[in-house]
Amino acid sequence: MDITQLILDEHAEQRKLFSLIEQIDASDKVALGAIWKRLRNLLDSHAEAEERFFYPRLMEIGTGGNDADSAADETEDAIEDHNEIRDTGEEVDKHAVGSADWFAAVGKCNEANSKHMAEEERQGLTDFRRHASVEERHALGIRFASFEADHITGVTPVDKDPKEWVKDHQPAR
Ligand SMILES: [Fe+2]
Ligand SMILES: [Fe+2]
Repeated sequence: MDITQLILDEHAEQRKLFSLIEQIDASDKVALGAIWKRLRNLLDSHAEAEERFFYPRLMEIGTGGNDADSAADETEDAIEDHNEIRDTGEEVDKHAVGSADWFAAVGKCNEANSKHMAEEERQGLTDFRRHASVEERHALGIRFASFEADHITGVTPVDKDPKEWVKDHQPAR
């Protein structure tokens, strides 16, 4: 097991669920509503699990993957993106399932999530693979998988202040 692979696997699941929504007729509100609900729950629990089990350790061992200047920079970006994903997800639920506004809001959430995943895969995940041992990736993978199994119906979405979050998770030097 490897927490970086579990994160990638959930990204693939998120991409799949967005693509399913694109292929369902607007009149099938039951199917659209059910798949969106699963997707929103996954987006919320995924971000929370990363903030609990991935980013704190990345802050301790990372140096900045690819185009990131530091672990703090890539983490601050990620916390900010997670807020945007939560907020765009919340916005979807303000519209009637299957309406034009609903589809447009799902599109905005997809955009926020796609941009975030690309950056996270290129920066945080790369950085983590380079600095965490296979044993540690396995151990954190268990924590991540256990949290996700326990929160299959999502978590209460809570936005965090990115700068405060990074300040609170500065490793002791
Ligand atoms: Fe992620
Ligand atoms: Fe993330």
